[in-house]
Amino acid sequence: MCGIVGAVAQRDVAEILVEGLRRLEYRGYDSAGVAILDTECNLQRVRRLGKVKELADAVDSNPITGGTGIAHTRWATHGEPSEANAHPHVSGENIALVHNGIIENHEELRSLLTERGYSFASQTDTEVIAHLVEWELRSAKTLLEAVQKTAAQLEGAYGTVVMDRRDPERLVVARSGSPLVIGLGIGENFLASDQLALLNVTRRFMFLEEGDVAEITRREVNIFDLNGEPVAREVHESNLQQDAADKGQYRHFMQKEIYQQPSALINTMEGRISNDTVIVESIGAGAADILRNVEHVQIVACGTSYNAGMTARYWFEALAGVSCDVEIASEFRYRKFVTRPNSLLITLSQSGETADTLAALRLAKEKGYMSAMTICNVAGSSLVRESDLAFMTRAGTEIGVASTKAFTTQLATMLMFVTALGKQKGVIDPKKEKEIVTSLHQLPAQIEKALAFDKPIEQLAEDFADKHHALFLGRGEFYPIAMEGSLKLKEISYIHAEAYAAGELKHGPLALIDADMPVIVVAPTNDLLEKLKSNIEEVRARGGLLYVFADSDAGFEECEGMKIITMPKVDEFIAPIFYTIPMQLLSYHVALIKGTDVDQPRNLAKAVTVE
Ligand code: AGP
Ligand code: GLU
Repeated sequence: MCGIVGAVAQRDVAEILVEGLRRLEYRGYDSAGVAILDTECNLQRVRRLGKVKELADAVDSNPITGGTGIAHTRWATHGEPSEANAHPHVSGENIALVHNGIIENHEELRSLLTERGYSFASQTDTEVIAHLVEWELRSAKTLLEAVQKTAAQLEGAYGTVVMDRRDPERLVVARSGSPLVIGLGIGENFLASDQLALLNVTRRFMFLEEGDVAEITRREVNIFDLNGEPVAREVHESNLQQDAADKGQYRHFMQKEIYQQPSALINTMEGRISNDTVIVESIGAGAADILRNVEHVQIVACGTSYNAGMTARYWFEALAGVSCDVEIASEFRYRKFVTRPNSLLITLSQSGETADTLAALRLAKEKGYMSAMTICNVAGSSLVRESDLAFMTRAGTEIGVASTKAFTTQLATMLMFVTALGKQKGVIDPKKEKEIVTSLHQLPAQIEKALAFDKPIEQLAEDFADKHHALFLGRGEFYPIAMEGSLKLKEISYIHAEAYAAGELKHGPLALIDADMPVIVVAPTNDLLEKLKSNIEEVRARGGLLYVFADSDAGFEECEGMKIITMPKVDEFIAPIFYTIPMQLLSYHVALIKGTDVDQPRNLAKAVTVE
């Protein structure tokens, strides 16, 4: 789930490893550790519960020298967060290892290893890997062979790195279900679970594929595939920004990412829309054929990405005339579903590594979907590699656990895709296409205008700080925007929040309304506004406290119990994207007042690579 960094170099690597962990902090974790071999081949291990800072302080006050090392941030899945459960784990005096993911058959392996005389120092599933490698090394000729034999016995997901005290200039890594990337240096090599960790030491990367095992020395990287055959993996030059891991002038990554949305959206649309058309070829080779033949779209995603899918459903049906279902990936993957003819599966994901979404993609391939496309933010991620088509959102690295720019760029990407689809199907004529594309061109500037509401929303946030619950309402495509608003608020301010389609209020949730329950309404002028106004009246009549985000044409007047936040009027196509901004700002400011950990909210991780 969390972070791995490793290095084989001639210089001391402690600082590189700890800095790498710092760059991966955004993923959310509970403990951190490092193990390094010094020139006399002593294995030195330091682990700390809590933040990387604790580990860094410990390493500073007791410096570790040595050029071969591994480091880890742990997001506990088996065994409580504690120093004893933190990685690296060791077996005997020689083997040290870090692991991301879950070993599903760990109980069985633990019994087997106990019978063989191993004793366990932690409650983790990971420790079985260390002992298995130690066992296999008793008969294997090399560490590589021992790791290959170990990998064959593991069920579940892992990205793992092993170090042997007797073979001090070598690391062996194995990947199955958790990403690992090798960073190539000059006379030194590195590895990590995410290239971001290594951008200060290299920009040249090789991505390991499923089932790969590799040995890494200072001068060589040898990779073997699932069948043990030597394979070459392409070297990629990273174009990620170095400063992706810096907050710059901002107080939090989430704030930075909220403010990056205008430029992120410009990137998203660059080369994909001309003055008045969507460039179909920019979706990818073969896209035109797929679009012509699609009769149904099935979107699968989790969390914020699911909310983006829910919004896009309105567009697929209303604009392109193509039926669309949206489902949470963890439900979809375990349900017996019927595949419709000529159905396109679309996975939506910021990270491209979400375990449930990836499993849904793999399942859909078996179940006869016409094609699988991913709308994703991370190049080289598993979803991108395993899909027929990848339409990248290009939001840039998102570090805050609470997704912001990934969501709005997903929406813009979907709107472009829907327009291309409608055009290809003959449902969207050139006039309509031009209208949509013109709105898209206005989007970055409109988002700037929404960001200008930061101050008034900051004031508004004061009203929420002592509340325990909040309700978000919307209708039509603004219902999923209300859902996203509610998810943001609960994630980072820990206030219980729910979203309802406003028409559903009278079927139950109205019973909750009282003066302690703020109700946030997303209410721009559209065909459903009059209906929404009736729902607002239902709340007012029961003494509810309303916060209405609307435009000047909507005709709301502020009164006792109802605050109106009057936003600029924007085109209907981009309005859902536009109204996301005040929702993000509201949750951000409420969290600031409450003093929560905005970028790393409790219990959450950035990339959820376990189910
Ligand atoms: C977003 O704020 C959340 N932290 C979470 O719901 C996230 O959107 C979800 O885990 C899906 O992640 P993905 O987009 O990387 O697949
Ligand atoms: N399952 C392992 C543990 O609980 C690894 C967790 C992780 O991926 O950080 O220690």
